[in-house]
Amino acid sequence: MSINRIKWKKKDHFRTLTAFILNALIVIALMAVALLIKVGGIKQIIQVTMQETKLIAFIVVSVVLTFIASYAFYYSQYRDFMYKTSNIFMLFGVLIISLVANYAFGKISVYLRPFALCALLALLLSDKRSAVFMNCIYSILMLITDVLTGLNVNDLLFSFIVGFTSGIIAVFAVDGEGSRVKVLTRGALISIPAIISTFVASYTTDYKHLIYSLLFALGSGILADALMMVILPFFEMAFGALTNFRLAELTDHKAKLIKELSERAPGTFSHTIILAMIAEACGNAIGVNPLLCRACAYYHDVGKLNKPEYFTENQSGKNPHDDLMPELSTDIIRAHAKDGAELIRKRRLPEALASAAEQHHGTLPIRYFYIKASKFTDGELSVENFCYYGPKPQTKENAIIMICDACEAKVRTINRTHENVDKAVKDIIEERMEMEQFTECDITMRELQIIRNTITNVLSGVYHERVKYPKLKTGGKRSV
Ligand SMILES: [Fe+2]
Ligand SMILES: [Fe+2]
Repeated sequence: MSINRIKWKKKDHFRTLTAFILNALIVIALMAVALLIKVGGIKQIIQVTMQETKLIAFIVVSVVLTFIASYAFYYSQYRDFMYKTSNIFMLFGVLIISLVANYAFGKISVYLRPFALCALLALLLSDKRSAVFMNCIYSILMLITDVLTGLNVNDLLFSFIVGFTSGIIAVFAVDGEGSRVKVLTRGALISIPAIISTFVASYTTDYKHLIYSLLFALGSGILADALMMVILPFFEMAFGALTNFRLAELTDHKAKLIKELSERAPGTFSHTIILAMIAEACGNAIGVNPLLCRACAYYHDVGKLNKPEYFTENQSGKNPHDDLMPELSTDIIRAHAKDGAELIRKRRLPEALASAAEQHHGTLPIRYFYIKASKFTDGELSVENFCYYGPKPQTKENAIIMICDACEAKVRTINRTHENVDKAVKDIIEERMEMEQFTECDITMRELQIIRNTITNVLSGVYHERVKYPKLKTGGKRSV
């Protein structure tokens, strides 16, 4: 996320800055509501403001400065991410909901606050670095709210320290996957700072109060995790965010489009399954989201659903291209990239999947039909007329899909020794480099080398020749 490639115009700065200001105003308005609840009426608020002018001014300035720092951080580190105004509202929506939840549960007990909620949501909707930063901002804003609402110094410090540490533990303890048991164990882990701090803060009080406080502290982590599970789907829906939960749903074989692919284009579906496995391994190996690579693999060829019988893997017997001019065949074949992207967008599935479908053949030529057409033509034939429309891969994930797609298809046709597979993978990567297919994404030579090794290892494993078991002589007894 830290690589910034989008060129910003003046209006983009204005747009994003406005989004930050709006969110800052929402936070200030919520703080005013908290103060209103505390003092009990508008008249009293005016009175407090007159008496505590310095404190109120300090609080407003603190919120403004916090938002300026956030703008500076996201502008320098996540410029492409914040280019989309909806992403700004998504992240600050997380912050605002977490502040409200902390305030509301704090009314029951300060120990029950779901301290790690902001970090958990930010982690699943963006990444670790952004979640750590959001957790800092949230801890500061929680402290400011507590000062404003007159929380006693002990509880105020307790909330600040536990909020900060629970959030950081959450960022590094959560992997974004969740069975119900995991939610509980993760919640308990996140509660550790709260339990320690609660014990230190309450061990001098009576036994009953200590037990209650410790149970609340344990509950705070589980509550944060449970609230995250409830709130996350709304963010996924509202902002089209691609969390690991959403990616797991998208790659379920019961997902509508995947089910259609398995029923109407079984050859393409089986190619997709192997491709997903290699792409996921490559994602893991070079440190990009493996589940996103897997999902992109599942959807990369859905455009073939328009005419499944025109693609080799779905043919059994007759090849309809035998009766077609190579130019027409080329049009049918290359349309599947654009058709796939259109279908994915029509079904309102994530844009990352549509871009993978659109870019997985880049601007490569369809060699088979170019050679076939050359046989019918005496003059020069322009290879451009036999190329995919592109664009070339724009992300590392899409470059992985492009390479793995070709490798999976190629390896099916060769004698699959480790050396042969490695040579085929090497040739495919080099050919794509020569054809300048990776010039628009930031993949490095080192990453291409890692991808080559990973594909070779996985594909040699998938298609390894079966060992021929020698027959055992059992002296006329039953053979084993
Ligand atoms: Fe394809
Ligand atoms: Fe494919």
